Amino acid sequence: MARRAALLLLLLLVGPLYLAAPAPALAASGTIVFTTLGRSRYAFDIFALPLTPLSSSSSSPAAEVRLTDGASVNYNGNFAPSSDSLLFVSERNGTLNLYAFPVPSASGSGARREALEVPEAAAALPSPLLPWDPIALKDRPSLTPDGAHLVYVSTAEPAEAPRRSWAAVYNTHLPSGATRRLTPRGVADFSPAVSPSGEWTAAASPGPDGWGGEVEDLNTDIYVFRTSDGSRRTLAIRDGGWPTWADETTLFFHRRDSDGWYGVYRAKISFAGGAGVSAASVERVTPPGFHAFTPAASPGAPGLVAVATRRPGSDYRHIEVIDVSGGGGANAYFEVTRPVAPRVHHFNPFISPDGERVAYHRCRGSGNGDSPLLLENIKSPAPDTFSLFRIDGSYPSFSHDGKRIAFVGLPGLFVVNADGSGGRRQILSGEAFPTAWDWKRKGVIYTSIGPTFASERTEVDVIAVSLGDDDDDSSISIKKLTTGSENNAFPSPSPDGKWVVFRSGRSGHKNLYIMDAEDGEAGGIHRLTEGPWSDTMCNWSPDGEWIAFSSDRHNPGGGSFAIYMIHPNGTGLRRVVHSADGGRTNHPWFSPDSKTLVFTSDYAAVSAEPISNPHHYQPYGEIFTVNIDGTGIRRLTHNSFEDGTPSWTPYYLEPEDVGETLQASGTCKFRDCHWLTVDAKPDGLMCGKHG
Ligand SMILES: *[C@@H]1O[C@H](CO)[C@@H](O)[C@H](O)[C@H]1NC(C)=O
Ligand SMILES: *[C@@H]1O[C@H](CO)[C@@H](O)[C@H](O)[C@H]1NC(C)=O
Repeated sequence: MARRAALLLLLLLVGPLYLAAPAPALAASGTIVFTTLGRSRYAFDIFALPLTPLSSSSSSPAAEVRLTDGASVNYNGNFAPSSDSLLFVSERNGTLNLYAFPVPSASGSGARREALEVPEAAAALPSPLLPWDPIALKDRPSLTPDGAHLVYVSTAEPAEAPRRSWAAVYNTHLPSGATRRLTPRGVADFSPAVSPSGEWTAAASPGPDGWGGEVEDLNTDIYVFRTSDGSRRTLAIRDGGWPTWADETTLFFHRRDSDGWYGVYRAKISFAGGAGVSAASVERVTPPGFHAFTPAASPGAPGLVAVATRRPGSDYRHIEVIDVSGGGGANAYFEVTRPVAPRVHHFNPFISPDGERVAYHRCRGSGNGDSPLLLENIKSPAPDTFSLFRIDGSYPSFSHDGKRIAFVGLPGLFVVNADGSGGRRQILSGEAFPTAWDWKRKGVIYTSIGPTFASERTEVDVIAVSLGDDDDDSSISIKKLTTGSENNAFPSPSPDGKWVVFRSGRSGHKNLYIMDAEDGEAGGIHRLTEGPWSDTMCNWSPDGEWIAFSSDRHNPGGGSFAIYMIHPNGTGLRRVVHSADGGRTNHPWFSPDSKTLVFTSDYAAVSAEPISNPHHYQPYGEIFTVNIDGTGIRRLTHNSFEDGTPSWTPYYLEPEDVGETLQASGTCKFRDCHWLTVDAKPDGLMCGKHG
């Protein structure tokens, strides 16, 4: 109760200030639109079921209670330790933030109150210790038992080097808003958990070599430190993640073992006087043969650990509870979610303080009025310069009058009115990528048809699609611009409408070529770059002076890409931005004034443990801008999802969500982590690490 009063007080104190802030001066200087793999379809909410072995009543769908309100995406919940409040992460209002809800009573009669928005309030009262940036990922909230301190992850402060995670653990004193960073500078922390007394926090930290660059390559160790100030930080457990406290000296965590399976482990912690903390014993709780991860324990449920599992024979991630009180190999398992919703992924369980409920997040499913937004407004770090949107599609690009957006639907190519008024047409049904509108000829879109990520010799053709003047599909005409059977892709037209730059594998390497925009190769072609490497993803600047592209020429075939620029006449080659050794920086697109590039990169590494998220190939992909002289790198997006394929239009869209008249067909179509092998012995996962 005291805690909720504190939150309310805080809200009352800062609410008027927040509301009275003047509207930002909005200059009409452009819109950036990008895609986030699958995110528009997630529609996560937090649900709870009784934490008891199955009975006919507890396994019926009616026993499941939804704890969040069906707005935006709500995930990674946690209960306040001594009240009925639910803490959770939500992306409502264009930025990831932490919220609290009173939990409705199990009978379902409890009316939900307004969400109390914790961190925006905290951000309005910045800590005297930190320059606070409200646009950041905020994740994994925990409260101390007195309810006064919120401990969480934030990406508000840049890492000290490229390709290092910005995620760090912070402690905000809710009544005052005073915020303290608990993670040392130069270090990242994920998945913090506050001990039952509140004195200690455990977190998963990747060492300097803790991230290998692929999604599954994150290795963390578990550190324990004082919740109040981060002091006495001690390496407690090597090779572990997602810690959770069963009591003041018992931690559970997950680890991907050398046999390839994720398993849940128990560690007894000892506090050795002033020397810090050590793990006195570590034992594996779940056997090989299935994956068990993201454990949750609670002092209110002694002897029980909730976990998410992937078992052979099931395509879905489910919540199970392990009764570890038997000790030894005598652990008993009971299923929580499979009997209730067998064909849905369930993520990241947590247990109520009274031990009566286990909660988790999953798609809220159809029937809740879900309709993916066409354009979801994301808070822009420079709202007076550009607005920022996520689109439900890949490779978006605006027509040059700003009225229409073309995008790739994986598969298929679509156009839709940018203002949400409809006009959605499927232009192509097969595999096509990317999209780029001709500057002079209205309704002409360049794309390439064929498989993505294919070899130099795989046939991919650059085509021009002409939409015609009416909304009648019969008026669509297609012209093939490349004539060979090599891999020709990523067309981008010159602003004078005369040329198209594209990449081709015709020499045996992917290099850039320029051809006639109307007649294609038949009208003339010349080679722009040459060398035994890959130049790709080219974009012609609106002032015509530059072509930006992505290349691995600094380490051919090494998998690392940086952004380069070259004049269309082949002079002036230079590297603009490179993430770090081995890093990836892709999909450059010029700003309307040709002075800045927007791109996607692993520059900020991963922002959460990848196993805690659904399917993403590159969850380290965030959207950045950079001046074309390589200065002024700015991070635009902060989340643990895969953001990519940005484009930039001079047309300014007001920073508000844009819906669409169409109703979504299916919701929640996505896979679990694609790298999680389940049906065979998953030893391939560990190649190169243990052998
Ligand atoms: C989202 O922002 C709007 C406008 O700024 C505000 O009225 C609303 O209360 C916010 N919603 C939440 C849940 O914070
Ligand atoms: C190539 O193009 C650039 C940019 O337009 C120009 O500054 C330069 O003089 C050109 N060089 C040659 C050799 O034509």
